[in-house]
Formats: sequence, C-alpha cells, structure tokens
Amino acid sequence: METKKRDGFNSRIGALLAIIGSAVGLGNLWRFPYVVGENGGGAFILVYLIIAFGLCTPLMMTELLIGRRGKSNVVGAFKAIDSKSKFYYSGYIFVLASFLILSFYSVVGGWVLHYLGESLTFSLSNLSSEDLTLHFKNLVSAPVRPLLLHFLFMFLTASVVIFGIEKGIEKMSKIFMPILFIFIVVLAIRSLTLPGAGQGLNFLFNIDFSKITMNTVFEALGQSFFSLSLGIGCIITYGSYMRSEENIMKSSIVVVSSDILFALIAGLAIIPAVFAFNFEPAAGPGLVFIVLPQIFSQIAGGSVFQIIFFFILFIAAITSSISLLETVVAYVVEELKITRRKATIYTSIIITIVGCFCALSEGALADFKLFGLNFFSLVETLASNILLPVGSIFIAIFASWVMKKEDVVEELSNYGTIKVKNLGYYFVIVKFVAPIAISFILIKYLLF
Ligand code: PFF
Repeated sequence: METKKRDGFNSRIGALLAIIGSAVGLGNLWRFPYVVGENGGGAFILVYLIIAFGLCTPLMMTELLIGRRGKSNVVGAFKAIDSKSKFYYSGYIFVLASFLILSFYSVVGGWVLHYLGESLTFSLSNLSSEDLTLHFKNLVSAPVRPLLLHFLFMFLTASVVIFGIEKGIEKMSKIFMPILFIFIVVLAIRSLTLPGAGQGLNFLFNIDFSKITMNTVFEALGQSFFSLSLGIGCIITYGSYMRSEENIMKSSIVVVSSDILFALIAGLAIIPAVFAFNFEPAAGPGLVFIVLPQIFSQIAGGSVFQIIFFFILFIAAITSSISLLETVVAYVVEELKITRRKATIYTSIIITIVGCFCALSEGALADFKLFGLNFFSLVETLASNILLPVGSIFIAIFASWVMKKEDVVEELSNYGTIKVKNLGYYFVIVKFVAPIAISFILIKYLLF
C-alpha cells in the first residue's frame, strides 16, 4: 500500500528561514529593547549572549533532533523515539503552552495591525506624549476593537498554516524574512545617523559589570528561551519537517546567531533614537507604541520609517504565531487524525475564543484578577514562566537520560556522514547544566 508522504521543508534555506521566522518575533523587536533598557544595557547584553550561545544552542539542537528523529508532532515524536517511556505526556504540555502563548501573542499582534493601519493613514503624526499614551490605553481597553484586531491576526495566521509546510510556511518565510532583514537594517542605519545617537550606542555596548545581578541572569534566561522559541515544542515540530541531510548543529548555530543579530539590530534601531530625543529606554511595553511614534514624528521622512517599522513588527509577529499554531495543528492532524484544513479551522477558532479573554483583560474584564494578575498576565505567566521551563527540562532530560547516546549522536551526525564537534560539551550542557539552570528559573518564579 502506498503511504502518503509527510509534508516538510523542501530546501535548506526554506527550513532555516522558517525556524528563524519562529524565533524572530515580538520578543526581539518589542521586548528585547525595553528589557535591555530596564536591565542596564551592555551588561545585560553580555549575559544574554553567553546564555544564548552557551546554553540555548545545545537546547535548540536537542529540539531539532527530537523532532527529526521522531518525524512527528510534539506528542508523536516522543512515542516514535521511545515507545516505552511516558515522556510523550510532556508533549501535551507543549500543545497547551503553544495554545496559550498564541492566545495572548495574537492580541499583541492585533495591536501591531492597528498601529500599522494608523501609520498608513498618518494618524499618529505629531501627537504629544500624553495623546499617544491615551491612544494606547484607549486601544487596549476598548470593548470591541482589540477583539476585531485579534480575529484578523488569527485569521491571517491560519491562512498560512492551512496550506501546510512547503506551500504555506516555507513559501511565506522565503518571501518575508529577507524583507524583514533588509527593512530592519534600513531602520538601524536611520537611527544611528541621528545626531546624539552615540549615547545610545554607549548604553548598548558599554559593559558595567556592577549592573550584573542574579536578576539580570534570570531576565536573560527567560528572554533568551522565549526569543528562541525554546521549550514550547515549536522547534521540535519544525525539526520534524527538516530533511535528513541537514546539519542540525550548524542549523542551530545559524538560527541562534540570526535571532541574536535581529535582537541587536532592533536594539540599534530603537535605543539610539530613544537617546537622541531624550526619552527613557526603560519605558516598558509602551516603548514601541508610545515612545517610537513621537520619535518618528520628529525625524525627516519619519512617517515612512514608521510604516516600515510597524510592517516589520507585523511580519516578525506573524511568522512566530504561525509556528505556534502549526505546533497545535500538527498534533491535532496526526494524533486525532483529522484533515489539516479542519484542524486549522477548529484550533484557530478555539484559540481565538481563549484569546478574547486576553484581549478584554485591560477593558471589560479588567476587574477579573487571580493572584493579582489579569487574564492576559495570568496566561502569559503560566505559559512563559511555568510551562516553558518545565517543557525545556523535559526535553533536556529526555535527550540526555532517556534516549540512547548512540541515537543522539547518530541523529546529530546524520548517521555518521558528517563530523560533529564538541559533543562532550553538548552532553554536559544538556544533561546537567540546562536542567539545573532551568530549575532555578522555575523555582524563582514559583517562590517569588
Ligand atoms: N520567539 C518568538 C518571539 O521572540 O517573539 C515568540 C515565540 C514563538 C515563543 C514561538 C515561543 C514559541 F514557541
């Protein structure tokens, strides 16, 4: 009997761009600059680089190898690799985490769409700081608008996922990721050529070691995992679509480096401009929605740069949300045996409904609080601070304590056809350092 070939990436560049697309998102362009601003600039960046290269690259390799070896979704991959262990239960954590992250991520994606629309109609030009603060507050607390924007963003995400890997995700990444890169470089050049930008550069690259505290390390750990899409199952899912001839170690290095590069360029595009106009870099989540439009109003050609900025923020957000939806859809298609079309429609509808509660959490549902958190923050905390670290610990333990070492080496070396260096380092990190370091994050979040 002829079995249907599993959909997958058809080219190396397509696979890499899709994985980079998952990694590069709001985490890089929206969160990274203000987290750097709040945590002391260069000192934070140094810690971030060490964690991203030293700890996250081996974990990226691990997720890719589990996916490719299992050639299945986040539950099926564990079953396929070791049918006896109960580790496939951790797959349910990944499905839940992707589901929850997408439900609030798409709400922020909706805000980005709103700001893109406003930029295209030049409605943000020449508004004062108070006006822009009010504008942002009115948007997020409005009764209907955030819902409609969230629906639109989810609809766009689903419209790509429904076409599958090669014809949907790979194609979209090949078109949009290069555009994203070119535009962000253009913005960085504009920002760096503003008078007074040097102060921002100094802030980004001057390392004051006294600013490195335990908190800096925790912030950098959390930020790097989220930014690299680790611990959520997206990388396992994309790994399952990778061709057998791809070099997992090299691919991981390329993805981690690109993600860092995007975050740094985003920092270079935003922070020098913030300093040039005497704003505070530690402006929190409002940095891109409140501070940046004021800056764009003051520079020559600012309205065009503003359109470019919100357009790339949108691309970055949607390529990440696609990977989140794909993780859930792949599970539903393969484990619950329904067609991709139906799976995409049903899961998108359910995620959209849960997301509605997030979208309304600053408005109609502002009074609903649990542990002092509104619905949006509750879902974000549960997914990013609890499920993500738990998932990462399971992945590290599975690959280094449950899987046979020969199988891991076989997968990393493409059945001995390529040489893999530093395997000793890899195993020390995945077996000991990662589970211990991640347990600390978890304990910190649970206790403090
Ligand atoms: N890495 C994405 C970002 O930086 O915005 C967010 C993300 C996507 C997190 C996919 C987790 C994930 F599985």
